[in-house]
Formats: sequence, structure tokens, C-alpha cells
Amino acid sequence: MVELAHLRMDSGEMTLVVAAAIGQPAYVIYWGRQLPEGFAMADLARLGTGQHVFGSETQNVQPGLIAEPGLGFADSSGLAVHRSGQDWGVRLSVTAVKEYGDQNRAVIHAGDPVAQIAVEHVFQIDTDSGVLEISARLRNLGQEPLTLNQMSTICLPVPRHFSDIVGFSGRWAGEFRTERLRRFSGSWLRENRRGRTSHDSFPGVILCEEKTREQSGEACGVHLAWSGNHHLRVDTGNSGDVMASAGALLLPGEIILAPGEEYSSPSVIASYSARGLTGLGQRFHDHVRFNRLRESVRNRPRPVHYNSWEAVYFDHDPEQLKAMASKAAEIGIERFVLDDGWFGLRRNDRSGLGDWVVSDDVYPDGLTPLINHVTGLGMEMGIWFEPEMVNPDSDLYRAHPDWVLQIDGTEQVPFRNQLALDLSRGEVCDHLFDRIDAILRDHDIGYVKWDMNRDLNHPGGQDGRPKAFAQVQALYDLIDRVRVAHPDVEIESCSSGGGRADFGILAHTDRVWTSDSNDALDRQLIQRGASHFLPLCVTGAHVGPARCHITGRKLSMAMRAGTTIMGHMGVEMNLLSEPQPDLEELAKGIELYKQHRQLLHDGDFHRLDSVTGLNITGVVARDQQEALWSVAYMASLPERFPPRLLLSGLEPGLDYRVRLLWPENWRSITSPSIVEELDLTGNGSVFSGAALMTAGLQLPTAFPETVLLIHLVAE
Ligand code: DGJ
Repeated sequence: MVELAHLRMDSGEMTLVVAAAIGQPAYVIYWGRQLPEGFAMADLARLGTGQHVFGSETQNVQPGLIAEPGLGFADSSGLAVHRSGQDWGVRLSVTAVKEYGDQNRAVIHAGDPVAQIAVEHVFQIDTDSGVLEISARLRNLGQEPLTLNQMSTICLPVPRHFSDIVGFSGRWAGEFRTERLRRFSGSWLRENRRGRTSHDSFPGVILCEEKTREQSGEACGVHLAWSGNHHLRVDTGNSGDVMASAGALLLPGEIILAPGEEYSSPSVIASYSARGLTGLGQRFHDHVRFNRLRESVRNRPRPVHYNSWEAVYFDHDPEQLKAMASKAAEIGIERFVLDDGWFGLRRNDRSGLGDWVVSDDVYPDGLTPLINHVTGLGMEMGIWFEPEMVNPDSDLYRAHPDWVLQIDGTEQVPFRNQLALDLSRGEVCDHLFDRIDAILRDHDIGYVKWDMNRDLNHPGGQDGRPKAFAQVQALYDLIDRVRVAHPDVEIESCSSGGGRADFGILAHTDRVWTSDSNDALDRQLIQRGASHFLPLCVTGAHVGPARCHITGRKLSMAMRAGTTIMGHMGVEMNLLSEPQPDLEELAKGIELYKQHRQLLHDGDFHRLDSVTGLNITGVVARDQQEALWSVAYMASLPERFPPRLLLSGLEPGLDYRVRLLWPENWRSITSPSIVEELDLTGNGSVFSGAALMTAGLQLPTAFPETVLLIHLVAE
């Protein structure tokens, strides 16, 4: 029997153990609930001794860290390489295991002397959040080029009693749709070939027990920190064992490693919680807050945005925008973002994209007068770019038609009248950097909304090879270059709404535009879905016009404003045509957000289980002294009385004063009602945390399309 060396990583509520004996393949032997201290690691292998079954291997076949083919593991595969058809049967054996205890990091080096490749896995514990970040690098040690067709960063064995899969689908203006299904024999697979994170295939999956709910039960999650093509899979093999894996999806011939060259597989962020889906989400939130976001951004209250898009689209008039800015400042807005349409001949989406010079026609005196007006009002100026794209009707395309991604002899798929630039070419990024840098250097601008509005349907370079992977790396480098040159400028990741919202991009940007839909009812669900991975402080949420431009639905200001408070608040409407009473109500909503944004963005986020017709989420301060809950009445309720509000996360022994803060001065629609009985809109009433979490507060009857914000402060 081979003597096993074990690498044990403890993080938050989770333990991961890798069997890593020198000269043997490494594999994850345990991932799940934290093992007790002193647990005899060797017992893991003994406990897992396989039972031989007729018609199968007479010895346990382990999958290795990336289920490479030479191991003979038949249930799934995480690596496909070859050199002109040779050297494909890779079998990696551990050459060294290094533990850096003081840095909470461990590295496993492995190699295959026959196939001549080396793979290094880095396991990094994030002590701020309890998640584990796993990355992998593969190096070609041979004398011939190595073609890499596929590589999962890691294959993680999922506890077998995790019977449910929670995945995320969606569409433009309807992102983060949660899909929960029963795990089945075979593969649950999401493959994304859109060249951006995508609206329909968020690279994250949760596995949990059948009984797991928002506040209870075990769950584990895997997220690929990558903003391009990906594969994400859960394989339930014929053995019954379950494996979760993820990696970049590589196009044919995309990665051919020259001798000595390396491929870095995007990181996988793995998390576990026994405190339900909410507990798991809190870990991901902390990871983003403490390890993805810049400290300067994390520590600064998230300013209220104004965005010009739905107000004026391409119809820019500097005087009208100044008037809009004045109104914005009046109602408490802190950052004014000038969206698409300020440059070149960009009067619609058919021309000008790529020409990053201020439009003389529209801004004859440049942008400075508008910026001075905005900053003079005490607001910060922000501006929109879509650097990766070009309209064929643009000076840039006329000068450099060869700069776009394309496949020879194949017509481009039409997509918003624009083509994607090949960022893997140094001269393209140099040009883009110079243009962005010039605008930022010449103007007092503190914020960039970085948009990206088409899929990469034909991501071929001039050399005929696919560039989708290189495109994402080059994008990250370009953003970083802008950040280094302009460290005080914050950057938002937008991609036709939430098409590029993932942990990869959040290592380079400071906020995501969650969705183009400002319909508050849709937004309730989009934000709920996003909250499985993304914290409120990065999820942009805007108050749109009364009648939503995308759904045509008309909603009250109270509903619209109340919905955006559970996010990073902004406003996106024509303030000059909005009725005065609505503006006054909006100003109050903004004030409420400002009063509570520290709690909202620093506290622990909770979702309560879905109840027909209601969406209930909340944030509880880390010291449990305060909480803010949002109860959205999405539709008519099935029963005569709404249910009790059974809160979570409070300190049972503390007394909390409960008040209804929003809508302002809200009156029940019938009487008697708990709102008036308990003076909830006045001084409120005091209950113990235990009472609020066990007996719960009777919710008042309310019309559908109402959102109530309930505040609790410890006495
Ligand atoms: C798509 C974005 O999601 C919108 O917010 C807006 O910026 C438009 N692009 C501008 O073209």
C-alpha cells in the first residue's frame, strides 16, 4: 500500500484534503464540512476503500486533480492535450508539495516525464471570507509544441448527499435567473461561447442537499473567475461519485504552447457553508469585498449615480444635460455619468464607435463646461467607453479594417452594428490606452463605465487562430493599465447590462451594471439571483422612469426607489420631465440609501426562502446591532393574510426597535393593521431578537408592487 501524504486546507466552515504522495497522482480526497482538528488523514483513504464490482476495474481509479486521461478515470475528463496526436495520455505524479502556512497557501507540483508536461496547483485560503481560491498552470516541457484543447482548473468531489444543483441562466434584461434541479446521472453542463461572461450562463454553480434552504442546510459553490468562454460541469458518474469542475472553454487550436511556454487556467473559487444558501452567499460576498475590490473603493461610501442613458440615449444637448445635472444634485445624486453618445459621429448605434474624441458637433466647447458644471455642483463626473468595439462606419475602422476579430471567408454575424477589435494585438491596446488616457488626463473625470455590447461570434485573429482566451487576458491588462495611470478613477463593468459580471472582472473593476432592466419587479428577482455571488456594494441598481422602457410596465416611485436601495443605488431617467412629487419622493429614497449604505454594504446579506408573491431580503450588521429588511410584494398573495416575517441573523437576546421606513408615512390599506397598532411608521415597537426570529412579525396587507423597508435597531 502506498503511503499517502496529505495536504489539509481549512477555511471557514470547510475542509479540503488533497492526497498528495510524492510519485503518485494527487487527488482531492475530501471536500466538505470542516473535519475535526486532529482527524487522522490516513483514515480518509481507508474509509473510502472501494468495493470491487464485477465488470469493473479491480482497483479504485482516482480522478486526479484534473482527471487527466492517463489515469484511466472514465467518469469525466478535465484535460485534453497532445503533440500531433502523441503525448495525450497524460498521467501527472506529484513532484513536490509546498505549504506556506503563514500565507495560507499550498502548492502542489506535478509532472509527467513521458508526456513532458508539468502542472502546478496553487490552493489559497482567503481568511477574510473562508473561500478557497484554486489556480493551475500547465507548462510544456517538451521540444515540440503542445496543443491544449481543454483544461479544468480543478475537479472537486462533491459530497454525494448533495442532491440538488442550483444554476444560473438568463437573458439580456433578465440576468441571474436561478434554476434549481435534482442532480441526475450524467452531466450537468454549461458551456459559454459568447466571448464574454454572458447573460445566459453565469459561471457559478451551487450544490446542496434536498433539504437545504436559504437559512439552513449544507451547500457548496464553485465559481470560475473568468470573463470569457467557459465550461462548468457537474458529473454524476456511473460510480455514483459526483465531480464539479470548471475552466476556460478553449476553441480549436486556441492554445498551442511552444516549448517552455505556460498556460494559466482561470481561478476557481470554492466555498462551503452549513448555514444554507444565504451562508454560502455571504462567503462569496466577503471574498469580493475583501479580496477583489480595491481597499480605497471598499472604504468609500458608494456614491449615488446618475446615468444619462435612459434619459437622452444618443440625443446629447449640453445645456439640457447641465439642467439635468442641476436637478440630479438637488435630489442628492453624487456622481453624474455621461453615457454613450459624447464622441465622434456617434448619434446612433450605427456610427462613430471607436472614435474616442469628443464630438465637435454636439460639444463645440468640449466636455469641460459640462464637467465644470457637474463638479461645481459637488458631484463627480463619470464617462462611458466601449473600448473593445468599433462601428464599421467609423474613422478607426476605415484606418484599420484589419484590427477586428474575424474568420477569413466568413461573414460577420450582425450584432448591434459593431465589430470586436482584436485586443491580443499590442498596437490595438496601445491605441485604446492612449485614447482613454487622453480623455482622462484632459478632463476631471473620476469614473468610467466600461461597456461591451456584442458576443464574439467569430473571434479569429489575423493569423487565422482563435483569440477568445487572449482577448480576455488582454482586456484585463488594458483595464489594469488604465488603473495604474489613473488610480483614482473607478471603473464599472457593463456588458449590455449584466453580461460581464463575475469575480474575474471584479479583480479589475469596482462595480457591475447588473442589468439593463430597471423594471423594479424584474430587478427584485435579478438582484436576488445575483446575490448568490455578488455583494450589494458592487451591484448597480438604478431607479428608472415610471414606465419601464424595456418592459413597458408602470410602477410607483416608492417601488422603484425602494428596490434600488438593496444594491449600489443610482438614477436613470429624464429628471426634467419627472413629476415634482415623484422627484421629492426620490430625494427621500436617496437620503434613506445614504443613511443606511454603510450597513447595506458592510453587513451580512440574507435572503429568506421564497414565498409565493413575496421577495424578502435583508442586511444585518456584523455586530447585530442593526438590520434593514426589504419585503417586496411582487403579486397578489394566495392567502388572506400575508405570512409572518421570520427574520434571521439577529441576536436572540437583544431587544430591537422595529420601524417601517419605506414607503415614507405608509398607511395600511385596511384597518386594524399591525402598522398602526405597533406605530411602525412612528416610534416603532420593541421585540426581542428571539421573538422576531421565532414567532415573527405579522406582515401587513399591501397592494402588489409595493416594497416595505423595515429597520431594526438594538436598544
Ligand atoms: C448597454 C448598457 O447596458 C447601457 O446601460 C448603455 O450604456 C448602452 N449600452 C449604451 O450603448
